[in-house]
Amino acid sequence: MKSSAIAHSNIALIKYWGRSRDCDPCLNIPSNDSVSMTKCGSSQDTHLQTHTTIDFSDAYEEDIAFLEGEILTGRDMERILRVVNPLRECANVDYMFKMMSRNDFPTRAGLASSASGFAALAIAAVDALGIDFSKEEISTYARLGSGSAARSVHGGFVYWSRGVSHETSLAEQICGPDEFDMCTVIAIVHQGKKDVTSDVGHESAYSSPFNEVRIRKSQEQAKDIKKAILDDDFSEVGRIAEENCKYMHAVMMTSNPPLFYWHPDTLRLIKSVQKIRKEGPECYFTVDAGPNVHCLCRREDTYELQKVLEKMECVNRTISAKPADDSFVTKEHLF
Ligand code: PMV
Repeated sequence: MKSSAIAHSNIALIKYWGRSRDCDPCLNIPSNDSVSMTKCGSSQDTHLQTHTTIDFSDAYEEDIAFLEGEILTGRDMERILRVVNPLRECANVDYMFKMMSRNDFPTRAGLASSASGFAALAIAAVDALGIDFSKEEISTYARLGSGSAARSVHGGFVYWSRGVSHETSLAEQICGPDEFDMCTVIAIVHQGKKDVTSDVGHESAYSSPFNEVRIRKSQEQAKDIKKAILDDDFSEVGRIAEENCKYMHAVMMTSNPPLFYWHPDTLRLIKSVQKIRKEGPECYFTVDAGPNVHCLCRREDTYELQKVLEKMECVNRTISAKPADDSFVTKEHLF
């Protein structure tokens, strides 16, 4: 019972930050709806994707998982089991498993490796166990590993409804990768692992006095940005995404303990994006739980924007990415 899958990371345009207080925190049910673009790196060696193989067999005496060749233990293994255990139950299978996973981009550096990772795991596990699930149903299981992974099950532009239960907190595609013209140039200012992972960071959201407002505004923004995507209104999508990013970081910075994911270079880049926008090409920023800046632009402007950003001293390198296709099952196994 072996299967492999490939899934891409995603960049949130409307951010998920903080779990719902009305549900079991283990279910990763968010306090607000979110919207993202599943992204595929345009360069040969960085597609921003995770490739995962999982095998269920009576040959294994215990569950074992590897990421980038390293055996996973503690919280990391616990998150894998949160996805696999309920699926094993669903399929009525009690075999142990072996899993191997590989990213073609830096892990835990704010580039959403957990999103692509848990999406690939859920897809591969569902296929290996022979469960007949829709993509939306698979997204609910990906969510159990990492909330944002629910969105990476789909390609293109994706809406994750917060829902009120495991079954209703699911991700659906808004439109395919070729139906809305937006790309991102990621300006990498720092590639190391972050001090506080988003998994832990979510717990502090409610300690900010601004979080209630952010939740209320995010609900409106999620609906507005979906409409703007369907209306093909790039400027409006960029404007709303920037606004929502600032709300999330304001909550992070005012939480207890405060979370400052920005580096001085992050702010430098944000100011540059505002300046570039005035002179062209039109671009907007968004930043996840890390210091790197996503510069959202139209496809035809990607190259020019990349050249401008690469000239900046604070930028180590850039990765340009376009909307990705759906995640998929592959016959290429890692073991
Ligand atoms: O899925 P998690 O637990 O890694 O949380 C993701 C949080 C952000 O990347 C900051 C926002 C988002 O919606 O992706």
